[in-house]
Amino acid sequence: MSLLIKNIHQLIQVANSNQVLKGAAMHTLPILENAFVYCESGMIKSFGQMNEGDESAYNAAETIDAKGCVVGPGWIDSHTHLVFAATREAEFVDRINGLSYAEIAQRGGGILNSAKKLKAATEDELFASAWQRLMEVIALGTVAIEIKSGYGLSVDSELKILRVIKRLKEKSPIPIKATLLAAHAYPLAYRENHRGYLDLIKNELLPIVAKEKLADYFDVFCEEGFFSVTETDELLQAAMKYNLPAKIHANQLNHSGGVEVGVKNKAISVDHLECVGDKEIEALKNSDTLPVLLPAAAFFLQLPYQPAKKIIAAGLSVVLASDYNPGSCPSGNMNFVMSLACTQMGMLPEEAINACTINAAHALQLEENLGTIAVGKIANLFITQPISSYAVIPYSFSKSVIAKMVLNGKVWK
Ligand code: NIG
Ligand code: FE
Repeated sequence: MSLLIKNIHQLIQVANSNQVLKGAAMHTLPILENAFVYCESGMIKSFGQMNEGDESAYNAAETIDAKGCVVGPGWIDSHTHLVFAATREAEFVDRINGLSYAEIAQRGGGILNSAKKLKAATEDELFASAWQRLMEVIALGTVAIEIKSGYGLSVDSELKILRVIKRLKEKSPIPIKATLLAAHAYPLAYRENHRGYLDLIKNELLPIVAKEKLADYFDVFCEEGFFSVTETDELLQAAMKYNLPAKIHANQLNHSGGVEVGVKNKAISVDHLECVGDKEIEALKNSDTLPVLLPAAAFFLQLPYQPAKKIIAAGLSVVLASDYNPGSCPSGNMNFVMSLACTQMGMLPEEAINACTINAAHALQLEENLGTIAVGKIANLFITQPISSYAVIPYSFSKSVIAKMVLNGKVWK
């Protein structure tokens, strides 16, 4: 199977390196105008400007004329809670009426509410609704995704959600990475017995998850009222013994020390970061841990936006992700995430696109296969409607301009 996409107005992210982009390097987005991409056997076989076309490109089984369109490597969403049983609009109304996210959680709502609903749902039901969400986000340009457990909060239910993620992985047209997030909240029965729950995760859950290869990463919600820095540290060390690197929820509601404990444990990423200042930025500077910002969660919870410009000015990288979940961000629209990054956080379109492509690929260790237009990478691409430039993608804040997806070198239907 071969596919030629020709007459592309702007082919974006044709970087010739897979390096993570930091600081000022995030300003540059390499593009080709009047370009083509040729895909064969699911891979990018060649690309270039129309006048330097590769011979084989003209024998393609299928050709798309992308006149006026922007084509790019697709968004990598490195932080989602895509598998859940029900929406939580009653809490949305509670928040409008003045309750905070933390107060709702304290009353047994929030994550515990989702856990109760998940317990009652079957694997088939969870699979069906998550599959629908997956199809939705692919249509919006997402070409790889991370999915967390974390609405189980018991051995059985965490395994149930991880098995649903495993089924999604097997059937999905895009790469999926799974994260064990049993340490998302203390279940009611363990509110006064933290030791009991920490031991359950370490001694019962982790061995099964590792044996059945149900997770790629390990996450903890390190936050006041959830998991303390000491508890997080203990869990991250236990997970490393099973070769599960950390990607943690840090500094969403407070300067919790989450960033520092993530860095200490060589986390792949620390995610959220609504509350970061000089101290946290200093810790990140001396590490390979990536800051993953989730502006759509800040938007929905009316929290201060993450200081992206300050992080970039410090010479660090920025990754953007959606945080798709029923409590703090019922949307997996990466185009909207980029719009918020530009309008609310002052990121340039080039920075936002880099943060959702090559830098995001690093947050899922997929940079060898995705994140740029490069020969030999998986041919997972988006094609926009005719638009005047790539900046129209974040500019169109409520409407997706993604018209077509190519997955594994084929037009996705
Ligand atoms: O990333 N903050 C912790 N976890 C999720 C929200 C989970 C929920 O409210 O269901 C988040 O925002
Ligand atoms: Fe999250």
